[in-house]
Amino acid sequence: MSSIVVIGSVNLDLVATVKKLPAPGETVTDAELNRFPGGKGANQALAAKRLGAEVQLLACVGDDSAADEALALLREGGVDLSEVRVEADISTGTALIAVDPSGENHIVVAPGANKKLATDLLRIPDAEAMICQLEVPTDTVARAGAEFGGFFCVNLAPAQHVDVSVLQRADLIIVNETEAAWYGESLDACSGMIATTFGAAGAVLTRNGEDLARVKPPRVDAIDTTAAGDTFTAALALALVEGQQPESALRFACAAGAAATRTLGAQPSLPTRQEVLRLMEDAAI
Ligand code: RIB
Repeated sequence: MSSIVVIGSVNLDLVATVKKLPAPGETVTDAELNRFPGGKGANQALAAKRLGAEVQLLACVGDDSAADEALALLREGGVDLSEVRVEADISTGTALIAVDPSGENHIVVAPGANKKLATDLLRIPDAEAMICQLEVPTDTVARAGAEFGGFFCVNLAPAQHVDVSVLQRADLIIVNETEAAWYGESLDACSGMIATTFGAAGAVLTRNGEDLARVKPPRVDAIDTTAAGDTFTAALALALVEGQQPESALRFACAAGAAATRTLGAQPSLPTRQEVLRLMEDAAI
């Protein structure tokens, strides 16, 4: 079984299902409100675990009841939470999410305790792979990558400045098309692989500007795209660490991401490996 350490965020997602996403200055009503465990780090950790890896999450939460709610499915799913720190006098991260009937969303994050995740407080464990995202301080990501000896995957989301050392160190960078445009030519500093996702249109995996693979995901009826990118990230890192070839790894990741859009909420939607393989079989991809 592959071992993965995830350094990242834990959020409680407050999800309003709306008939239409609000335009700037617009109020929409008649939403239905739900609470789900989320956060890009936590989602990627649980996704990797459900897909078959041994996973440890390094994260920070507040000393509040939201932390218990946010960690519940990780705990139930068997993710190692022994290095999740509880910080006093700060709230657990919270995400305000609106989802429309096509599954599209708007997300606003109040990071709270996620901002407190500093590498000098962390013991970086041995593992085959490390996955990071940018909802925690970017210098933590840079220092974790420098200290870690295994396969280093960074999901550059949400888009923000990162030290060039992160791009140079990463074996795998993952961006969506909006993030790819935001980073532009700075991604040329990567000598590892870059996966760019295009939602229902699929994904491309490149190295040094050359295509390694291009894949379209299976068609699904999307209910909520929240955490589809997190699932894709976990699945691609895991498949590559397992030794799958780029094309096969990208196909698995696209199917995993698509599978995660079929259920409302971030962590309730994360598929098991069997569910992903069944979707691939049904779609004959
Ligand atoms: O990637 C999806 C996640 O982004 C949500 O779960 C939310 O918490 C935000 O961090």
